[in-house]
Amino acid sequence: MRTQVAIIGSGPAGLLLGQLLHGAGIDAVILERQSRDYVLSRIRAGVLEDGTVRLLDAVGAGARLHAEGLPHDGFELLFGGRRHRIDLQRLTGRRVTIYGQTEMTRDLMDLRASEGAATVFEAKDVALHDFDGSKPSVTFTKDGVAQRLDCEFIAGCDGYHGISRASVPGSAMQIFERGYPFGWLGILADVPPVSHELIYAGEERGFALCSMRSQSRSRYYVQCAADEDIANWPDERFWDELRLRLDPATAEALVTGPSIEKSIAPLRSFVAEPMRFGRLFLAGDAAHIVPPTGAKGLNLAASDVHYLSQALIDYFGERSSAGIDAYSAKALARVWKAERFSWWLTSLMHHFPQDSAFGRRIQRAELDYLAGSDHAMAALAENYVGLPY
Ligand code: APR
Ligand code: PHB
Repeated sequence: MRTQVAIIGSGPAGLLLGQLLHGAGIDAVILERQSRDYVLSRIRAGVLEDGTVRLLDAVGAGARLHAEGLPHDGFELLFGGRRHRIDLQRLTGRRVTIYGQTEMTRDLMDLRASEGAATVFEAKDVALHDFDGSKPSVTFTKDGVAQRLDCEFIAGCDGYHGISRASVPGSAMQIFERGYPFGWLGILADVPPVSHELIYAGEERGFALCSMRSQSRSRYYVQCAADEDIANWPDERFWDELRLRLDPATAEALVTGPSIEKSIAPLRSFVAEPMRFGRLFLAGDAAHIVPPTGAKGLNLAASDVHYLSQALIDYFGERSSAGIDAYSAKALARVWKAERFSWWLTSLMHHFPQDSAFGRRIQRAELDYLAGSDHAMAALAENYVGLPY
């Protein structure tokens, strides 16, 4: 097989890149390790920046998102027993859209299939070759048959555990990392959301988040120990703990029901530099991870592939390599700002087991400052709706 761009991974980064290239007449093949159904069964993030929405519109994948997504003009921070609204619309003139990453993935997959663009699901043993030369290729096994895909570029969109970053010699890459001494226990349930906007709660018992996927489907999280055993969290215990982390009125209004998904995610900040190695580019989770507090992971994947698609369009259109030469630095500049924001909001809102009383007071002082200063709120809001690109 032959193509211009071999895309590894059929998550949001790979799928959106595929559509952006397709729209410019650039041929790409996506190789995905899992089945389509498996990819569509993963529950992931749910907050889209308007830049991400614009990209989805630009590739013609925005119809269901506009019909079913929930535009949010603000969210709330809960601390000291009170909810404080961050009015995104007033502070920035912009909003975010609640739409599950799973749904966005489905829309992009359906669009890709309707255009007859090639995706190989259940591509096993994917291996990258010769991306430091001029003729890269990717080998894989499909239904037990060894195959080879020749290409001009490889886009590594295969997430944190993928093969792309792992194919680069360690000496060519610098890793920046921070772990956090806790995780998030998340639950999905077919109950109406407790509030029409998201609530980020940072009370004494630890962080909690009230989110949603629709008017009838809620997503809730509580901060838990990093090594927490999910078997210790029957639904009732989860709901009890969530209530204890909310203000009385919100706890009272909470509608509970059986969980349809429950999982624990560790929190981590991670960046691999650079994001280009010869003819291999990394994009999305393959290159960086943010803790979910700022809702930036999915949106960073979108801005990465925006930059990458522009670079490849310049290359194939004008035979100019200026764009591909600038990709890594351009993407990383935005990535690091989102890393900073996600680290900051995580540090502000969580209970750190080792924190001294001083640390708690500093968190509280910063929250009080935020709630009382339009300037501070504007800085939070402008990062939350997404920095420009
Ligand atoms: N070969 C082929 N495909 C692979 C391989 C491999 N060796 N390893 C991983 N993949 C696939 C995964 O199965 C997955 O479908 O790559 C895809 C990567 O998708 P995501 O993990 O969703 O990563 P990305 O597209 O960068 O999406 C951004 O931001 O909100 C966060 O974690 C959230 O998934 C989201 C991410
Ligand atoms: C989610 O709905 O899954 C979600 C929302 C906001 C976040 C993180 C996760 O900051």
